[in-house]
Amino acid sequence: MDKNKTYRIAVLPGDGTGPEVVNEGLKVLNAASAKYGFKLDYTHYDFGGERFKKTGEVLPDSAVDEMRKFQAIFLGAIGHPDVKPGILEKGILLRLRFELDQYINLRPVKLYPGVETPLKDKTPEQIDYVVVRENSGGMYTGMGGIMMQGTPQEVAIQNMTYSRFQVERCLRYAFEYTKKRNKRKTLALSGKTNVLTYVFDLWERAFNEIGGKDYPDIKREYYHVDATTMWMIKNPEWFDVIVTENMFGDIITDLGAITQGGMGIAAGGNINPEGVSMFEPIGGSAPKYTGKNVINPLASICAGAMMLDTLGETKASIAIENAVMDVTAKKLKSLGAGKMGYSTTEVGDLVAERI
Ligand code: IPM
Ligand code: MN
Repeated sequence: MDKNKTYRIAVLPGDGTGPEVVNEGLKVLNAASAKYGFKLDYTHYDFGGERFKKTGEVLPDSAVDEMRKFQAIFLGAIGHPDVKPGILEKGILLRLRFELDQYINLRPVKLYPGVETPLKDKTPEQIDYVVVRENSGGMYTGMGGIMMQGTPQEVAIQNMTYSRFQVERCLRYAFEYTKKRNKRKTLALSGKTNVLTYVFDLWERAFNEIGGKDYPDIKREYYHVDATTMWMIKNPEWFDVIVTENMFGDIITDLGAITQGGMGIAAGGNINPEGVSMFEPIGGSAPKYTGKNVINPLASICAGAMMLDTLGETKASIAIENAVMDVTAKKLKSLGAGKMGYSTTEVGDLVAERI
C-alpha cells in the first residue's frame, strides 16, 4: 500500500443495471479508500447502448487511447435490448479487451458463506478456485468469414487460432498466479487434446515445458474441457487454478459462476499485467430489472475488490471481500435480484459500513 497514492480510474457504467451496480461498487471503493489512505480519481464515460442510439457511435476512436491514461477501468454492463446482439459487445467490450491487450480474463469461483449453491452438499471450503481464461485469441479473434451467404451453398468459418506467444504468456501468468495464490499449488490445463490436436498440442507442450522448467513446485494436471465441466460440478474441491483458452473459458466460467451463487456475485478482471486492466461484474445488463433498485450489486463490489488487489491495495481488497462475506453470511436472504431482502443501494450500504 502506498499512502496518499492516487489512482486514476475510468468508470464505464454502460447499459441496463450497469449504472446501478457501479454506483454501489464506487460507494464501497470510496469507503475502502477513506479507510486505507489512498485516493481514487474517477472519470466517467457514457459508452453503451443509449449513446449508440443517440449518436450512432459505439466507441469514439479516441477512446481507446484515452483509456491508456488510466490505472484501471471499472465497467458496469454492456448490452441493450434495442441494439442487435454483437454490436456493443464487439464494439466496446471486446474492442477494449483486444486493443488494450488484456490477454487474461481472471475469474474467481468462490462460494461465500451463507450463499446457496446448486451443488448438493458443497461448502465454501470446497468451492474456491480461479479460472485463468486466455482473453485475446482463439475463436474470438474473428478470423474466418462467410461465403455465398443466403444460398444453399453458404459456408461459414470461424477459426480457433493461437500463437505460441499468446499461449506462453497466458500460461506464464497462470503459473505465476498459482504460485502467488499459494493454496494447493496445482494448475490444471483444460483443453481438448483428443480432438483439437493442433491447438491443444501447442498448449499442452508449452504447459509442460514452462511448468517443468520454471515452476517445478507447481503440480500440473490436464483435463479435457468436457470432463472439466463434470468435475466442476461433482468435485470442485479438486481445483485450485484452471487455465484454458478463450471460448472454453467463456463457457466454463458461467458454469463456475452458477456454482458460486450466480451472476449476482461473480466478478471478473480483464488483465493486461503490463498495462491497463478492466474489472466487471460478469452478469449482463439485466434490462428487466433496470431502474428498480433490486439488482444485486455484489458482483460489481467484488470487481472493485479485484481492481484494488491488482493495483496493489491488497489490504483494502481483502477488507472488501471480508465485508461481502459478512453480508452474505448474516444479511442477505438470497443473491437473486429482488430476493435479497434489501434493495441495491442498501446492499451497497451494508458492505460499505463494514469496511
Ligand atoms: C463474458 C461475456 C463476453 C464474452 C461477451 C459479452 C462478449 O460473455 O465476458 O464472458 O463472451 O467474453
Ligand atoms: Mn461469458
